[in-house]
Amino acid sequence: MDLIVTDDYDALSRAAAERIADLIVTKPTASLVLATGETPIGAYRELAATLRQRRADVSRLRVFQLDEYLDLEPDDRRSLFGWMARTVLDPLGVPLANVVRLDANAPDLAAACRAYDAAAAAGGFDLAVLGLGPNGHLGFNEPPAPPDAPTRAITLTEASVASNGPYWGGADQVPHRAITAGMSVLLAARQTLLLVSGARKRQILRRVVEEPATPDVPASFLQRAANVTVFADREAWPSPPPARAANPSAGRSA
Ligand code: F6R
Repeated sequence: MDLIVTDDYDALSRAAAERIADLIVTKPTASLVLATGETPIGAYRELAATLRQRRADVSRLRVFQLDEYLDLEPDDRRSLFGWMARTVLDPLGVPLANVVRLDANAPDLAAACRAYDAAAAAGGFDLAVLGLGPNGHLGFNEPPAPPDAPTRAITLTEASVASNGPYWGGADQVPHRAITAGMSVLLAARQTLLLVSGARKRQILRRVVEEPATPDVPASFLQRAANVTVFADREAWPSPPPARAANPSAGRSA
């Protein structure tokens, strides 16, 4: 696990966008799984500009949805697919036919989750772009989540309902159930970027990077995954203190 600390959120967004763009330019047929949420919005904005500048071909990318709320009507503004379309798919120009969705309206959710895992396992993810929940969740793999957890329906913890409340006008507006890509397919990604910004993520980030991996902090299992880079701004990883991270390469500044 590599930790790159940037001066601020804008620098974090630029650095992450560069990494994602490098992969897309090198492998235009790459499979990506992309988080929604606030943190990656800046990186996606930068990425759209960078890809235009580099005249990259996005027509053959494959993009997997990371998570989706349950119990919504298909056109509900709270759908995470809608968020993903607005913040990344449309700005990049990724054809919707190339998106593997988590089908929250499938008559048989368990079968839909198995189909997603099969599609993900077929080629594997070249890149996972993830955010960090204040409770240590990855996607909606709420704690406790073991590293072999499959794609599945879950109930949000109260902590996640509360932290997502501001996005939807209050905690009472947040759906309580979701489906999430499983820990198992996420941890198998060939490259992972974990984007972490802001003081409210400070404590949980230290647990992710420095403490032994535990189902109580699902993101801590990234310590065991291949080719993981944590991009944190100084708010999230103040300097000092010096990092004594899970991997000796951690603690670099950008
Ligand atoms: C979003 C997702 C979540 C968020 C996490 C951090 O698709 O799966 O795991 O990445 O809750 O959210 P922000 O970035 O809004 O702090």
